[in-house]
Amino acid sequence: MKALVLAGGTGSRLRPLTHTSAKQLVPIANKPVLFYGIESLVAAGITDIGIVTGGTAAEIEATVGDGSRFGARVTYLPQGEPLGLAHAVLIARDWLGEDDFVMYLGDNIIVDGIDELVADFHAPRPDARVLLAKVADPCAFGVAELDPEGRVVRLEEKPRAPRSDLALVGVYLFTPVVHRAIRAISPSARGELEITDALQWLVAHDYVVRPTVITGYWKDTGNAADMLEANRCVLESVVPARLGSVDAASELVGRVRVEPGAKIVRSRIVGPAVIGGDSVITDSHIGASTAVGRDCVITGSEVEFSIVLDGSRIDHAGRLEGSLIGRGVEVSGARRAPRAHRLVLADHSKVQLTS
Ligand code: TTP
Repeated sequence: MKALVLAGGTGSRLRPLTHTSAKQLVPIANKPVLFYGIESLVAAGITDIGIVTGGTAAEIEATVGDGSRFGARVTYLPQGEPLGLAHAVLIARDWLGEDDFVMYLGDNIIVDGIDELVADFHAPRPDARVLLAKVADPCAFGVAELDPEGRVVRLEEKPRAPRSDLALVGVYLFTPVVHRAIRAISPSARGELEITDALQWLVAHDYVVRPTVITGYWKDTGNAADMLEANRCVLESVVPARLGSVDAASELVGRVRVEPGAKIVRSRIVGPAVIGGDSVITDSHIGASTAVGRDCVITGSEVEFSIVLDGSRIDHAGRLEGSLIGRGVEVSGARRAPRAHRLVLADHSKVQLTS
């Protein structure tokens, strides 16, 4: 069995971070989202991995390499334009050959892994198996309707009147019959070849599509709010460690991981939280559910429920909450009048001012 990991796309919902970087490489608890997916695949015994890339191919290739660090063999499959999830399967057709495969969306995180899903697939071997989760807002997802025997009988992409609350989660298992389905479908109104349409084609042609309803935590990290939520959840199982220095005037509360070279000076860190290597936290309060990357400097500030990427500086900035701060960003408070906001923001930045 092979795996096809989708790491192309536009990432428009995560702008401006995605103007300069791949969304699949934004860190969750200081590890790129994409790594969680690759690790889940390897844990499920799948080591032959094709990664579909788009405009950020160079960065993805430089970060993931040949896959040997994961115990996998990675092949890169460039997709000229992000023309849909089924289009990504189409361009991977030759590499996939006649193998069964897992399709894994590179910005999804499934905390309990996919071992069971993959093991379940081999025994009855349906034509396809989809992972479903109960969601509160099915209109935003591909939605599956099941019959009393638990077979998928209908799938719809972002339906106006959803027939169930079961949404497609970003992991699919396919036998090679899916290639027939993809050849048969046409682009949707938004101009993409939709995997939901390919699945619907299978169902309509009496192929067996089985569901597995996920009970554990999963998240599509396509936007900032979901990214912060995934970070919060993953941090809950962070392994506490004091690998950097913590002075006597500082306090670490709960699950806190201080990476090598990091310095905590006259500060309070409330876990779950991680402070990346060589970062310096001085006279600050870092609150729960926060991941600070490498080489950051945080001084005289409070940061809670946030992700701060490598090389950023936060200096007397007051209290930051629910924030996603990119690489090399500077946030500083005005120490004397005029106390005006002075902003240099990238295109598509989002700022909420409270005073
Ligand atoms: P999406 O998040 O659905 O699409 P997107 O990346 O274009 O995001 P946005 O809506 O914010 O513009 O894609 C899910 C995953 O699949 C993600 O990792 C990107 C990847 N993908 C491809 O590799 N090729 C594609 O053609 C598309 C549409 C997505």
